[in-house]
Amino acid sequence: MFEIKGHDLYVEQIKAVDLAAQYGTPLYVLSESSLRSNLSDIKANFMDKYEQVQAAYASKALLTSAVVRIVEQEGFHLDVVSGGELYTARHASFPMAKIIFHGNNKSDEELQMALDYGVGRIVVDNVGELHRLAAMAEKAGKTAKILFRITPGIKAGTHHYIATGQKDSKFGIALDESIIFPAIEFAIQSKAIDFLGFHFHIGSQLFTNDTHIAATKVAVSLIKAVKDRYQYEIRELNTGGGYGIKYVEGDTPKPAAYFTDAIMESLESLCKSEGLLRPTVFIEPGRSIVGEAGITLYKAGAIKTIPNIRTYVAVDGGMTDNIRPALYQAKYEAIVANRADAPSDETVTLCGKCCESGDILIEHIPMQHIEAGDIIAVFSTGAYTYAMASHYNKHPNPAVVLVSGDQSYEIVKRETYEDLVSKDVIPAHLKA
Ligand SMILES: Cc1ncc(COP(=O)(O)O)c(C=O)c1O
Repeated sequence: MFEIKGHDLYVEQIKAVDLAAQYGTPLYVLSESSLRSNLSDIKANFMDKYEQVQAAYASKALLTSAVVRIVEQEGFHLDVVSGGELYTARHASFPMAKIIFHGNNKSDEELQMALDYGVGRIVVDNVGELHRLAAMAEKAGKTAKILFRITPGIKAGTHHYIATGQKDSKFGIALDESIIFPAIEFAIQSKAIDFLGFHFHIGSQLFTNDTHIAATKVAVSLIKAVKDRYQYEIRELNTGGGYGIKYVEGDTPKPAAYFTDAIMESLESLCKSEGLLRPTVFIEPGRSIVGEAGITLYKAGAIKTIPNIRTYVAVDGGMTDNIRPALYQAKYEAIVANRADAPSDETVTLCGKCCESGDILIEHIPMQHIEAGDIIAVFSTGAYTYAMASHYNKHPNPAVVLVSGDQSYEIVKRETYEDLVSKDVIPAHLKA
């Protein structure tokens, strides 16, 4: 969906430079065909291939009302992790029964919201939350359908900021007998709780399936222990997301089926050998659905060469629209969208315009010759960019544009300076 024709980079059938001219820069651009094709791939190779399976889109990767509509149309569930994400989902008319509500520190207000909205599943992250939720559901005369998020004690091979399956994690319930079993027993006995099963998510940007398989084994042992101890059949197992994507040359992403087939195969055989009913399996990828479907367009500004050191090319965005390089040294590739067919024979460092030396988008990247005013496209920025945007230095957030064939739609409007001060309040004694 991103192609070079002549001198230009195209997003579907529209020139990137035309999008930049029409909507301004920086600009997040999302290809609808690419997004839908990633969703269809999961449908064809997982949802239609196996019985009793469901897929959710992890909305933390990129959540806008239009994205919610696409995800719903494609038949997916939606993973949300906060009151704000839940509110957005409802705002976009997403069916609440297909919501999976996560979060390691859900407030009473968020839990109440989930009960009031009638969300399909709440993934309970800790024992305190279980007791709070049970009390609130009982008071409301409701039954909360829950899964326990467990930390299976598996260390994923990824940056430690995005590894979550190891025991020492802020997410989930550790599998110590004295912690997990009393929680399970309580959930089974509570009239206000419908205990469906377990959830794990071991990390993000993974290229091998071994940790998913290992976590599945741990989950099956737990499912067996629950059956042996309480004669209780677990009905659902949510295996999270984490499937890696291509950011740079050398990344080796695998199709979703590489992960889901391995999970299903190991689960089917383990359940058979343990004499267990195979639970309904959920997956909830985010990055692999939207990551490569998005690019960011910037305009090149100040260009500064420090002899024998490097050339900095500053763009009109930076860590405010993409914090990932500064946060955990994420790597990206980029081209000059209006000179896309030229050889990449100049090495530059793309930096942003924030007051931080760490505001570097890409270090030492071979690129086409760049002049001020050129449009730079950074690839694979669909996930965890707009979702993590900030207002540092009071930079307004860019617009998000959806491209479908030869049509484009602003699905999130560019913020204005007025927006930036719209929540400011000046107390009377400070007024001029
Ligand atoms: C609980 C949970 N599910 C799913 C995801 C999605 O992960 P990814 O975007 O790597 O697929 C995350 C990411 O943090 C997560 O925490």
